[in-house]
Amino acid sequence: MTDTYYITTAIDYANAPPHLGHAYEKIAADCLARYHRLQYGADNVFFLTGTDEHGLKIERKAKEAGVSPQEFVDQMAGAFQAAWAALGISYSRFIRTTEAAHREQVQQIFARLIAQGDVVKARYEGWYCSGCEEFKAERDLLEGRVCPNHERPAEWTSEENYVFDMARYRDRLRARIESDPHFVQPEFRRKEVLNLLEGFPNLSVSRQSVKWGIPVPGDPEHVVYVWIDALSNYLTGIGYGRDEAMFSHWWPADVHLVGKDISKFHAILWPAILMALDLPLPRQIFVHGFVLLDAGKMSKSTGNVVDPLGLAEKYGPDPIRYYLLREVNFGRDGDFTYEAFEKRVNADLANNLGNALNRILTFAERHFENRVSRPATEPSEAIGALAAAAGLARERFVAAMEAVALHEALAAAWELLDELNMFVDRQAPWSLAKQEDKTPLQHVVWSVLETLRVVAIMVWPTVPSLAARIWEQLGTEGELLAERTDRRWEHTCWGADPGTAPGTSHPAADRTFVTRKTGPVYLRIGTEIVGKAGKH
Ligand code: ME8
Ligand code: MG
Repeated sequence: MTDTYYITTAIDYANAPPHLGHAYEKIAADCLARYHRLQYGADNVFFLTGTDEHGLKIERKAKEAGVSPQEFVDQMAGAFQAAWAALGISYSRFIRTTEAAHREQVQQIFARLIAQGDVVKARYEGWYCSGCEEFKAERDLLEGRVCPNHERPAEWTSEENYVFDMARYRDRLRARIESDPHFVQPEFRRKEVLNLLEGFPNLSVSRQSVKWGIPVPGDPEHVVYVWIDALSNYLTGIGYGRDEAMFSHWWPADVHLVGKDISKFHAILWPAILMALDLPLPRQIFVHGFVLLDAGKMSKSTGNVVDPLGLAEKYGPDPIRYYLLREVNFGRDGDFTYEAFEKRVNADLANNLGNALNRILTFAERHFENRVSRPATEPSEAIGALAAAAGLARERFVAAMEAVALHEALAAAWELLDELNMFVDRQAPWSLAKQEDKTPLQHVVWSVLETLRVVAIMVWPTVPSLAARIWEQLGTEGELLAERTDRRWEHTCWGADPGTAPGTSHPAADRTFVTRKTGPVYLRIGTEIVGKAGKH
């Protein structure tokens, strides 16, 4: 049986264009999806994202904008799709909750919950925050009943509502969270969720005050609570209720990647609904932290700097992808500052990676007319050590990716680059070039190219367009395939024959690099631009 991998992101509220936090989540998911394509093959990975398009917040925004809610969300969905295209987000499907098929299935799901008695009609009143789209306990509100998340007062709401009977599933859910540490990660979030579960109320799952939503079947005065509507996308996005073969091929999800503010919906409400629907639970809910902006420095006039589309248009997709995944300890909060961004990108992409490639391409061009094959003689001990370092980096990389420690995976790749640069310094190809016998130089140049080949695959999930540019310049013909096809992970074995299965020992491949120096892989971010964006 082939392994499949189904990853989802939260679907973003279509009440405003995407910001850096939305981008962060999609970039992380994209990195995981691409890594799994390397592991399992492109056809065995499904990556779902989209927009959450119903609810009071959107109804109001559309009114402010003087357009219909549908027109409004059409515009917003377009803005999200444009940003993801610019950032290289390779989703398999972009789901919108206003799609007819989704709406229909949500109604079916809701009807079933009512029929089973999981959802019952009752009067429900309380303080409602339309920002959160939820009722708030008074103790969770600030003075003046202001919502701490949205800094405006919650509104008193008293409605006949449908209520989900959480009590039915609490014990089963607790048992699962306790017995399966993988289920909710990181660990500190698992503990948090277990605490929340104890007092988790029976939730109101319909709204009378909201017009812009999916009508409750048989009771059109009410619309389905936007969270039930939204969570169901993880099922409807892969054919639930319509395409049984497709659905059972992908479900259960391997990971729902979500931000820390919505962990309870995903780790409590959602599993309870799935239990009610008699469906297996997702294998993992991974909760990421928030990207914060350095408020002091991000003034209005520099606001464009943190617009993800603007960043991608200015610098290409790779720098922001790299920065966010490398700089933020995945699972924790992290900062975006322009200074740190510039520093990281220049040091790691332009210098560490870019220069390593550039330097060696010059030798390949000058001394080997751009054709570097592996010498038949035994390599030096230093080369053996470099190959071993590459093997170690590969193992670290895999372990980190399996643990969703994206920053650690990247650290492993870039530490290998550090070793590579030290190797070049110590081997001093410029001196070797002066010798009559070019074999030692050829060994060194080939080994550096081979290491860069391995690195290019490892970093592809994070910086795909940069990796493609490296690969092109290395010119290992036939191995660079299109984005969507398989570049199998086993190709990251140093010196390995690309056809070799993982886990076996590899004969040294006689790969020949046909290099093409077509310019720097990544240009430094200029100080002029930084001055303009960061200091005015
Ligand atoms: O919550 N840093 O939508 P949303 C990192 N529609 N992540 C952030 C962030 C930040 N500064 N700000 C927001 C919703 N996010 C619902 C989801 S899923 C069935 C329905 C994350 O647009 C946030 O945690 O408010 C969430 O995972 C995602 O962006 C969408 O947030
Ligand atoms: Mg939110």
